[in-house]
Amino acid sequence: MLADLLPSTVAAVEVRTDPVGVALFPEEEDHVRDAVPKRRAEFAAVRWCARTAMAELGVPPAPVVPGRRGAPAWHPELTGSMTHCAGYRAAALARREDFASVGIDAEPDLPLPDGILEEISLGPERRQVTALLAGHPGIAWDRLLFSAKESVFKAWYPVTGLELGFHQALITFDPARRGFTARLLTGAGGARAPRAFTGRFAAEDGILATAIAHTAHALVPA
Ligand SMILES: CC(C)(COP(=O)(O)OP(=O)(O)OC[C@H]1O[C@@H](n2cnc3c(N)ncnc32)[C@H](O)[C@@H]1OP(=O)(O)O)[C@@H](O)C(=O)NCCC(=O)NCCS
Repeated sequence: MLADLLPSTVAAVEVRTDPVGVALFPEEEDHVRDAVPKRRAEFAAVRWCARTAMAELGVPPAPVVPGRRGAPAWHPELTGSMTHCAGYRAAALARREDFASVGIDAEPDLPLPDGILEEISLGPERRQVTALLAGHPGIAWDRLLFSAKESVFKAWYPVTGLELGFHQALITFDPARRGFTARLLTGAGGARAPRAFTGRFAAEDGILATAIAHTAHALVPA
C-alpha cells in the first residue's frame, strides 16, 4: 500500500505482523530497555522496516535513534519517516539528494473519538470532512485528516526543527486522485521553510495511510 503512495526512489517497507527476533543496536536498546512490550514491539518492528529500506537503497544497516522531539536520526545520506499503529508498521526512506524530507502516517480506519476533530481541524477542513463522508462513504475521513496532519508534521519538523500546530496546516483532499495538499499557515522557518506539501493517501484492510515526499522543488505556491 505505502509504496504506491510514494515515488519509486523512496524505499517503502511495511508489515502487518511484527517480524520475529529483530536485533536492536545498543543505542536503540537504551531507548526501550524499560518500555512496555507494546512499545518495544512497535519500536523494533519499524526499525526492521527501516533497515530493510536501507538495504534497498544500498546503505548498510544503521541504528535509528529517537533524537530531538522524537525525530529519528538517520544515516547522513538518508532522510525518512516511520509510523506504527495496531496491525501496521512502516518506514519510508530516501536519499537526501532526492528528497528533503519524508512524512508517513498510518491510523486505524475508524472515526476519531468524540471531540477530537474539532480540536485538530480548521473550519474548511470540517466542512470538507462532512461532504466527503456523505459523498465518498467507506473511509473515516476525519481520521484521514488527522493522519494527513501527522504526515505533514513528520515532513515539516526534520527540515525546520520547529513545532507545527494542528491549526497551522490546511489540508485539502482530492478524493479522485487519492491525494491531498497541505498549505502551511505559518511564516515560521524563514524563506527556506516549506509553504506547502502534496501527499497521497490509501485505505486498505482497515488501515489508513498518508505519505508525503518533499523536495525543495515541489513547493506549491501559497
Ligand atoms: C510526532 C507525532 C507526529 C507522531 O505521530 P503518531 O501518530 O503519534 O505516531 P506514529 O506511530 O505514526 O509515529 C511515530 C514515529 O514518528 C516519528 N517521529 C516522532 N517524532 C518526530 C518528529 N519530531 N519528527 C519526525 N518524526 C517523528 C518516530 O519515528 C516515531 O517512531 P519511534 O518513536 O518508534 O521512533 C505525534 O506524536 C505528534 O507529536 N503530533 C503533534 C504534532 C502534529 O501532528 N501537529 C500537526 C501539524 S499540522
